[in-house]
Amino acid sequence: MNTERIGIIGGTGWLGAALARALLDSGFVEADRLRLSNRSGSHPLAETGAHLLADNQALVNASDVVILSVRPEQFKALNVDASGKRVISLMAGVTSQTIREATGAETVVRAMANAAVEIRQSFTPWHCAQLLSDVDADFIQRLLECVGTASRVPTEEGIDYLSALSGTGPAFPALVMTALTRQAVIAGIPEDVARQAAHGVVVSASQLLVNHDPQAMIDSLVAYKGVTAAALQSLIDEGFEDQIGRAVEAGANVARKGM
Ligand SMILES: NC(=O)c1ccc[n+]([C@@H]2O[C@H](COP(=O)([O-])OP(=O)(O)OC[C@H]3O[C@@H](n4cnc5c(N)ncnc54)[C@H](OP(=O)(O)O)[C@@H]3O)[C@@H](O)[C@H]2O)c1
Repeated sequence: MNTERIGIIGGTGWLGAALARALLDSGFVEADRLRLSNRSGSHPLAETGAHLLADNQALVNASDVVILSVRPEQFKALNVDASGKRVISLMAGVTSQTIREATGAETVVRAMANAAVEIRQSFTPWHCAQLLSDVDADFIQRLLECVGTASRVPTEEGIDYLSALSGTGPAFPALVMTALTRQAVIAGIPEDVARQAAHGVVVSASQLLVNHDPQAMIDSLVAYKGVTAAALQSLIDEGFEDQIGRAVEAGANVARKGM
């Protein structure tokens, strides 16, 4: 159990609430040291024993670590002085410099979670431009690990890029799943079977990747020269990897421009 007091501005929203519950369930912070704010100051999360506030400055004053979990377009309205505090922003497309200028905080961490926080399976990259002590870096890493895995990245540009990669959570697999389903239906497979087949591939069979190297798996399937090899080779020949690269760049450009 940590002794730091944690405040989450926007702590009752989709992401903030999932993080708050994970911090409490994992024992990372005790309820009395956790403050959550929204514009009404009320939410069922109050039942956990965490403090609910409508006053963001009061939350900042009573916290050692302030987490920003409002939507990017709601950030300007916050108007808080967080000088002397460590700030962790979960917002996409709002730069550390903007956050430093708006809040007065010297230490600003940007972290990019994804929708899998809901099942505590998010990969959450984070970046901090300031020098962090080992203790502070470890604290941030462990805090983010309450909703999955996490890794510090060396540049803020990396966060913008990863916003369009890991930040997209289940989006790419969902697109693959719907494409596989639709194409199977077009090929004459009954829709319920097509759905089961696509689910079996994207959700079930992909579990093998938990402890198999993906490149080794592709190499051995291609070497087998069977049905799977022909399908994979077609994707490779049609520039699948370049297309993935362009898709992630398109998303990253939005994160770089800011929201
Ligand atoms: N959703 C995702 O998959 C995802 C993935 C990665 C990153 N993110 C980032 O996570 C952040 C939050 O997204 P979300 O999906 O959790 O949004 P959300 O559900 O709309 O949550 C926003 C929260 O902010 C509160 N809020 C708004 N204005 C406020 C103010 N002036 N003072 C205090 N609280 C205020 C809202 O509560 P009231 O309306 O009750 O005031 C709500 O609790 C975003 O910046 C987004 O970029 C989201």
